[in-house]
Amino acid sequence: MQRIPGRGEGRKRGGQAARRRLRRSPHPLRLGGGGGGGTMPRDNMASLIQRVARQARVTFRPPGANNNSSAGGGGSGAGGNGGPRFVENLQRLQQLLNEVRAEDLRLVPRGPSAVPGPVQPPVSYMHICETESFSMGVFVLRAGACIPLHDHPGMNGLLKVLYGTLRIACFDPLGAPADGPGPGNNGGGGGRRSACESSTAAAAASPSRPASSSSRRRQRALLRSHQLYTPASSPCLLSPHADNLHQIDAVGGPAAFLDILAPPYDPEHGRDCHYYRLLDGQSLPPPGPADQLGLPKEVWLLETPQAADFWCGGEPYPGPQVSP
Ligand SMILES: [Fe+2]
Repeated sequence: MQRIPGRGEGRKRGGQAARRRLRRSPHPLRLGGGGGGGTMPRDNMASLIQRVARQARVTFRPPGANNNSSAGGGGSGAGGNGGPRFVENLQRLQQLLNEVRAEDLRLVPRGPSAVPGPVQPPVSYMHICETESFSMGVFVLRAGACIPLHDHPGMNGLLKVLYGTLRIACFDPLGAPADGPGPGNNGGGGGRRSACESSTAAAAASPSRPASSSSRRRQRALLRSHQLYTPASSPCLLSPHADNLHQIDAVGGPAAFLDILAPPYDPEHGRDCHYYRLLDGQSLPPPGPADQLGLPKEVWLLETPQAADFWCGGEPYPGPQVSP
């Protein structure tokens, strides 16, 4: 992960923005007005991103919810997440996502736009839409930027690269997080602590100081994959139990990806964001095919505060208007 030096005020503001994004939606960013497109046509005249939103609504709508959409009439009444109709709708959503390109969202490949203040954010977020059942937006990463390892409790997600190359490491959580010492980690137990809630202390925390880790939770996990994703790649999926934790790095230049989370982060309903790192003595292998990397492999993670060099700005979404 590239360390991006932060400077006081800018990092603090950015840290708050990142927490808002990663902990809880709705994102404060308003939709950009640039070429919104006016009234949204329906059905085959709808923009691709509008069809993606409609399919996401169908796929992730709560059990028993009424559906008048023409997007496919899925319905979790036929089994909810994991049921045959959910799987069918998820496949449709993946197919639609597979078609999305940067130009569909009027994105021009680049890093995050400069923002007022002394430091440009390593990552910025373009809010597209949000309902109670899902949120959708675009993350834009500077060259070398990293979204640190984090979780999505009880959530599904899809990630589609729009431009650039991402290196993504995916982990399954194994069991519940636990307090106290883990392998290679001396120290006693401590209270549970949300990394996001403690992000204001991030500047004081050093990932290389095991002494500071004694009061944080550790998590047993299965490293499932570490591979490169480009616009030609299929969407990267996560579910409540598979690939639920991930770390995302931009390699070789700026990158952007479309992000769908279902349901959105919501700490009041147990869907808070936590950050982790590999416990001392462990490291990620170079990206490659899982079988050649000897994956899956069990690892130990340690919950950390939000990294001092990670914060997220906001930018207007320049693409077609979306009404989920
Ligand atoms: Fe994520």
